[in-house]
Amino acid sequence: MRLRKRRRNQVSGWRAIRRCVVFFTAVCVIPVLLVLLVATDHYMRPVQHTTFLRPQFDESDRILSDSMQYSHNLTMVGMRMEKRRRHLKKSCHNLGLDRNGNDTLHRPNPWEFLVDKKHHLVWCNVFKAASTSWMYNFNILAGYKPKFLKKSKLVPMTLARQKYPRPSLQGLKEAFNNSVSFVIVRHPLERLLSAYRDKLQFALPHTHHQKLGNEIVAKYRNKLRNKEHRGKPQQRWPTFPEFVEYLVDSVKSGERLDMHWTPITEFCTPCMFDFQMIAHTETLQEDQTYLIKKAKLEHLIEPQWKNAGKGTTSGQITKYYSQLTRSQILHLYHIYRYDFELFNYSLSGFLELGQQDKDPSTLLAAITLKDFQRLPLPQVYK
Ligand SMILES: *[C@@H]1O[C@H](CO)[C@@H](O)[C@H](O)[C@H]1NC(C)=O
Ligand SMILES: *[C@@H]1O[C@H](CO)[C@@H](O)[C@H](O)[C@H]1NC(C)=O
Ligand SMILES: *[C@@H]1O[C@H](CO)[C@@H](O)[C@H](O)[C@H]1NC(C)=O
Ligand SMILES: *[C@@H]1O[C@H](CO)[C@@H](O)[C@H](O)[C@H]1NC(C)=O
Repeated sequence: MRLRKRRRNQVSGWRAIRRCVVFFTAVCVIPVLLVLLVATDHYMRPVQHTTFLRPQFDESDRILSDSMQYSHNLTMVGMRMEKRRRHLKKSCHNLGLDRNGNDTLHRPNPWEFLVDKKHHLVWCNVFKAASTSWMYNFNILAGYKPKFLKKSKLVPMTLARQKYPRPSLQGLKEAFNNSVSFVIVRHPLERLLSAYRDKLQFALPHTHHQKLGNEIVAKYRNKLRNKEHRGKPQQRWPTFPEFVEYLVDSVKSGERLDMHWTPITEFCTPCMFDFQMIAHTETLQEDQTYLIKKAKLEHLIEPQWKNAGKGTTSGQITKYYSQLTRSQILHLYHIYRYDFELFNYSLSGFLELGQQDKDPSTLLAAITLKDFQRLPLPQVYK
């Protein structure tokens, strides 16, 4: 009995010692561990920080951040496209341009479209808005080799039409249903200036446009002004003001306009179709990268910017538009007012350039031109 009791005492003594050891270990080790944790954390952090700041030295990290930037850009461009599309729909509705009718504004016009059935791509070819680049792309998609396109004497449009005949309205509507559809737009007055320079100022000899230029000069060149400039050589092509005078008159008399300066609203009737993408020349690089990606054509075509040499710069805009009067600029606004509205452009930056009209009533008449009930409607707007 005694022996057992002693043993029990011994055992409980050992237990007490063990508990003490555990307790003291705990009391001593835990703070040490904590201190260590904090200390290592303190020492680790700057190290982590420097490695974090260094990715530019690491090739794979650089590529990763580029592709993140790229997809960020794509999302941004996608949102911008959606915004433009909503704006177009809203404006079409507000202006009553989404109703079918029997005039050039309300009758869907499939004539200018290119439909690539194989690659599910639909494009309305607006001249003077990156059309050279995209005509090239469509020719590449049609299977023409770049070498052939370079040396071919045929106009790119002629080559393209051999592969993409003009669609019927029904055919076009079906194509819209299962394709990526797009149009490229540009500031109306910038597009007009680009057309004037390309087709009239630098008209190729013996072309239809050179002939037109001669006719404009014959009709609009002020003979008196000629006398004033006696001795100075006069340019053979129409000046920009002469061209604008001609344009305003042809709209007033209801003539069909040249395709290079027809308003996009009539050329593509964008209110009659549901374009997925509206690219702008101001953001073309991003817009066409997005477009090519969405159409899954990256392996076939790449973003182009052809004919950039003839593009209009802000210096040219100032040079040419400061030759016009303000009433002339307002007349131009009137001709292109739907393009301005549908594609969210404004006159700001242009109207200021115009010269003051000598006769204030001319300016007044140009302002009230907006009120088209009072004037006989130009045919394009009937
Ligand atoms: C993203 O867009 C910016 C300008 O908007 C451009 O400078 C940059 O190159 C683009 N990055 C990629 C990867 O496309
Ligand atoms: C229209 O243009 C203005 C100024 O350029 C811009 O702030 C606005 O976001 C644009 N609206 C749409 C719908 O694109
Ligand atoms: C549409 O206009 C053309 C002439 O422009 C005319 O011949 C035709 O009868 C018109 N159609 C309708 C349905 O009004
Ligand atoms: C286009 O698709 C819609 C619905 O998907 C259909 O109602 C319409 O008839 C189609 N239009 C054509 C021209 O195929």
